[in-house]
Amino acid sequence: MKSYKRLLAYMRPYLKRLGVAVICIILAAAANLYVPWIIKDMIDKVLADKNMSMLNIIAIGIVVVFFFRGIFYYGQAYLVSFIGQRVIIDVRDVIYRKFQRMPLAYYDQHQTGETMSFITNDVGALQSALVDNLIELVTEGAILIGSIALMLYLDWKLSLLTLFTIPIIAQAMKVFGRKLKSAGTVIQERLADITAFLQESISAIRVVKSFTREDYEIARFKEQNELNFQAAMKNVQLSSLLTPTVEFLAALGVTVIVWFGGYEVVNGVMTAGSLVAFLTYAVNLANPVKRLSRVYANIQKAMAAAERVFEVLDLEEPIRDKEDAVPLPQIAGHVAFEAVSFEYSKGVSALENVTLEAKPGQMIAFVGPSGAGKSTIANLIPRFYDVTSGSIKIDGVDIRDVTLRSLREQIGIVPQETNLFSTAIMENIRYGRLDATDEEVVAAAKSANAHEFIMELPYGYATAIGERGMNLSGGQRQRIAIARAILKDPRVLILDEATSALDTESEKIVQAALDKLMVGRTSFVIAHRLSTIFNADCIFVIENGHVKEQGTHQELLSLGGLYSNLYSIQFNKVKA
Ligand SMILES: Nc1ncnc2c1ncn2[C@@H]1O[C@H](COP(=O)(O)OP(=O)(O)O)[C@@H](O)[C@H]1O
Ligand SMILES: [Mg+2]
Repeated sequence: MKSYKRLLAYMRPYLKRLGVAVICIILAAAANLYVPWIIKDMIDKVLADKNMSMLNIIAIGIVVVFFFRGIFYYGQAYLVSFIGQRVIIDVRDVIYRKFQRMPLAYYDQHQTGETMSFITNDVGALQSALVDNLIELVTEGAILIGSIALMLYLDWKLSLLTLFTIPIIAQAMKVFGRKLKSAGTVIQERLADITAFLQESISAIRVVKSFTREDYEIARFKEQNELNFQAAMKNVQLSSLLTPTVEFLAALGVTVIVWFGGYEVVNGVMTAGSLVAFLTYAVNLANPVKRLSRVYANIQKAMAAAERVFEVLDLEEPIRDKEDAVPLPQIAGHVAFEAVSFEYSKGVSALENVTLEAKPGQMIAFVGPSGAGKSTIANLIPRFYDVTSGSIKIDGVDIRDVTLRSLREQIGIVPQETNLFSTAIMENIRYGRLDATDEEVVAAAKSANAHEFIMELPYGYATAIGERGMNLSGGQRQRIAIARAILKDPRVLILDEATSALDTESEKIVQAALDKLMVGRTSFVIAHRLSTIFNADCIFVIENGHVKEQGTHQELLSLGGLYSNLYSIQFNKVKA
């Protein structure tokens, strides 16, 4: 109920249209109710009095009423669909917006398919609740109320008699129906028993034969078969008893109504035409009742979907702008971690007490075994996750005090593998800065060493990614990613193993592009190959979420610890 109210709130912008739609629905329903009235006039006025002018009036009335009914029908169908579709589109937009705002931690815990299902399936289910069921609800409601009102108008005593009789008969049919159904279940079970028996005895036929137990099995089967027969007969007995009983009850009810109606006609309380019209309304009463109960079931179903949708909309967004967040002004690029600890999930430490500093324009490198926490450090700088304790400051400002947008706009990331969109290469690079001109995109591609291979593609910059087998190699994709970052022109750069998925040949080209990209920016480089970070201003050796060693390449080598170990391993590897 609460969900329905909330869903209806989305209709608020369309209230005027909704009002017109409801009027159309009611008028169309009223036209339906006019039919028995025609019969009444035919019998009472045209046939009884042989009144020709009345016949003409009725004929014209039919044409006019059904003409307008068509117009109202069109109005209702068009308007209700319009409102329903609009509401669904609005809901879909709201959910998509929500998903864009959800932190990465949400996506760590939920599969892509699950997230997509909210936007496609659940919202689709809502649509049927809104459009189809809303029309039926109002139409059938109007017909139900209209029929009852007209019946009361025609003859209130007969109406009360009818309205008491019908529910009693309906109730009786329901009770008997349930009994029949349970008898049917017993038959199904008996049949299942036979199948199970056959399955067992036939697959064990070797055993049966070797013990010459054929006669024994035949007797057992006869017994099962007999049980099935009894169950079937019981069902037949029940249904052949119940059907006439119910029909007799119904006949009794109808007789009561018809007798009383006829009695009133004979005594001149009611006209013949009125009685026929009355009975038509009474018989047709079953339709709206049936349809309304179906509408109710559908709405229940749709509400389950609505609840799922609203549950998503109500999810907390732990990472968002503070109330008093201010935009981070153009930064110089001074980044400092102060005693930063971090847990992805409560109690499982991923980083502990990490303190580090990068001065504007410096290159900071992280090395260490896989799973040490290097990417985690990188994830904290753009606030993909918030630190558990300690703080990260950029140019002296805690990154939690500034708006996410202004922070992330000044940080560029080249990950290990880059997602490209299925649009033209030009648009893929422009993702780095949406208002970049074509010339700027090309210039960025040139300094990312990407221009040449792009020009060799079938349509150059207009070539769409992923179309007709158009796929780029890993090295080409990384150069697109670098071009994006160049366009963005961030002060702080994060390279998380940007070349580790590449073969040696393309690694060289990509590394050259990265070297150009890093000039003049504060860079955090996570390296799998030490040769790329020899000239870093400071190298941090990370292990198990801790900073184990820090210093320049030379300092760390002379320390003779983890780093020099790593160095000699890689150095030997290169040699071998
Ligand atoms: N999204 C995540 N959710 C939960 N745990 C994670 C997530 N990402 C990384 N971890 C865990 O945090 C630790 C550090 O991972 P990571 O920073 O990716 O290591 P590295 O980049 O040094 O290989 C690992 O134990 C890893 O399993
Ligand atoms: Mg990593």
